[in-house]
Amino acid sequence: MTSSPFPSLVSLLIVLLALIVNANGESRSHHKVNVSSLLPRKVCSNSKDALSNVTRLRLVHRHGPCSPAVRRRRSNFEAEILARDQLHVGFLRQRIAAAELGGGGTSPASTRAAPSTKIPARSGASVSAGDYIVTVGLGTPPKAQTLFFDTGSDVTWVQCQPCTVSCYRQLDRLFDPASSATYANITCASAACADLDALDCSDGTCIYGVSYGDGSQSVGFYSSDALALTPSDVVPRFLFGCGQANEGLFGLAAGILGLGGGRPSLVTQTMKKYNGVFGYCLPASASDTGYLAFGDSGSTNPTVKYTNMLRDAKTPTFYFINLIGISVAGQQLRIQPSAFAKAGTLIDSGTVITRLPPAAYASLRSAFRGRMSRYKKAPAVSILDTCYDPTGRGEVKLPAVALLFSGDVSVNLAPEGIVYAVNESRICLAFAANDADDDVGILGNVQQRTFGVLYDVPKKKIGFAAGGC
Ligand SMILES: *[C@@H]1O[C@H](CO)[C@@H](O)[C@H](O)[C@H]1NC(C)=O
Ligand SMILES: *[C@@H]1O[C@H](CO)[C@@H](O)[C@H](O)[C@H]1NC(C)=O
Ligand SMILES: *[C@@H]1O[C@H](CO)[C@@H](O)[C@H](O)[C@H]1NC(C)=O
Ligand SMILES: *[C@@H]1O[C@H](CO)[C@@H](O)[C@H](O)[C@H]1NC(C)=O
Repeated sequence: MTSSPFPSLVSLLIVLLALIVNANGESRSHHKVNVSSLLPRKVCSNSKDALSNVTRLRLVHRHGPCSPAVRRRRSNFEAEILARDQLHVGFLRQRIAAAELGGGGTSPASTRAAPSTKIPARSGASVSAGDYIVTVGLGTPPKAQTLFFDTGSDVTWVQCQPCTVSCYRQLDRLFDPASSATYANITCASAACADLDALDCSDGTCIYGVSYGDGSQSVGFYSSDALALTPSDVVPRFLFGCGQANEGLFGLAAGILGLGGGRPSLVTQTMKKYNGVFGYCLPASASDTGYLAFGDSGSTNPTVKYTNMLRDAKTPTFYFINLIGISVAGQQLRIQPSAFAKAGTLIDSGTVITRLPPAAYASLRSAFRGRMSRYKKAPAVSILDTCYDPTGRGEVKLPAVALLFSGDVSVNLAPEGIVYAVNESRICLAFAANDADDDVGILGNVQQRTFGVLYDVPKKKIGFAAGGC
């Protein structure tokens, strides 16, 4: 590849931008933030799309003015999101524990759900399997389908005509296989069905089944059709579930886009086309937009810091990351590295709040509280136990929090990744403790906000680039 003047120009711009950001009150030790900037605005502001030559989809938070499915927020809305997040985490733990105990060929995405985590479906309620949505085109001609994107599951599915058993209400028109020239059922004898750990076989057609730990599930025909990620990037014969029995809390999305590391996932299916490289940027708030991208975009970005991606053959769906420390206000906390190493840390787009080993959380909380003593304490909100009432302050000074990963990678979180703003009068430290040392840690989506997060599956690395969106 020949060199062009553009990369150096881009680097120069990045340096200038960094200087401007510093002039705006950012530093290694603290962030000065306007409390209202932590809360979503009433209108959507589209992020300017970076100059890039990759397959890029617009990504938005499901609850906010950028979502096609805006619904009225109830007063206890945030607490409800957090309660569901806890169910989702319980489900992830159970999947990992079952696999570690030698669950044999149990696919993490199979229907063997956590029995204790059933809660009734309510319209407008939230599911933790996805907070962010993208719109793709399915079939020939392509029909728009709005899907949650989920790095914690593999199978992509949409609600499908004729909804033999049940479909919940959704925004897009229901996908109709009969109106697509390229739709095909997958037979039970096929390799694709074997890869799936299928639920069943019905009249020779492979039956998939997935559930998400909060009572949400989808069962139907495993099928293939053309998937248009963008109008010009079409994945032919993409394997997905044509859901006939769909139940749960998916709000108005048509289904789920599975980006896990297992065989049925979009990432694995497009390995030849995109080399197992994808990335996303989760926006600062629900009134901003981010992106989901496929293909080799990150390797050319000079600001990406890469750390190792860890995989476990027993749970191929999940991407793990080697969290080794935390620093607050520029000072590394004294946490035994073994505290993190015991159960490892999973990176998941579908978990909201980062879960830390008990000792690590205690240390973080204590350092954070020490730096926030000037603010009025406020009651806990669900799983968030360190909250403040900034009413009348306008601006708050938050200590910088950085996550340290192996490979000498320090990720200095954005203010939106340090505190969770419940409303104008309640901001909380956006981390929670695991119950036990051997519960897996989880890097949740709040902490990933505004970073370009890049996954290179074959090279086993995960990168973070500040200011991704
Ligand atoms: C950008 O994409 C086009 C079409 O896919 C391709 O021909 C071109 O080589 C790409 N340019 C770069 C710099 O990757
Ligand atoms: C797919 O399989 C189901 C169940 O056997 C059947 O009802 C349906 O007609 C099939 N669709 C196509 C396009 O073959
Ligand atoms: C904070 O932001 C709001 C809305 O953008 C603005 O009206 C207000 O003046 C800002 N407050 C401070 C202290 O900068
Ligand atoms: C902010 O949220 C807390 C916790 O959900 C709630 O108790 C409080 O009433 C809310 N305050 C406002 C002004 O909405």
